[in-house]
Amino acid sequence: MCASCHGREGLGNGPSAPGVLANFQDPEWQRSRSDADIASVIRLGRGMMPAFGEQIVPAGIEALVGHVRRLGNANAEPAPTDANATPTGEPSPEEESTTPTP
Ligand code: HEC
Repeated sequence: MCASCHGREGLGNGPSAPGVLANFQDPEWQRSRSDADIASVIRLGRGMMPAFGEQIVPAGIEALVGHVRRLGNANAEPAPTDANATPTGEPSPEEESTTPTP
């Protein structure tokens, strides 16, 4: 269901993509988002991104965050298999800026 917009590899080029989406394999993108950011977008939606909080249980959302991270790690340094740990520990202040133009 995610792939229809985000593409099977998370490149953001799925057939139903409503414009240009984030490339989940881009290390820059991975760095710019915390796990909490990703989880909250999946849960609450944003812009054209539908909210999935009603359809996906919290554990499922966590699993999706892990999946998004693995997509990124395919192109970045190999990550330890930590499903729960916060990768960097760096707090990421709201760097909310990149809302794509509608
Ligand atoms: C209807 C098309 C569509 C579907 C289906 C969809 N997305 Fe999205 N998604 C978007 C769009 C559009 C954005 C960009 C939202 C924005 O920033 O305005 C987005 C953004 C995101 C982001 C945040 C990107 C960022 O830059 O922070 C994540 C993470 C994400 N989607 C994950 C998912 C997951 C996981 C699923 C499946 C449960 C999913 N999406 C299904 C369209 C979709």
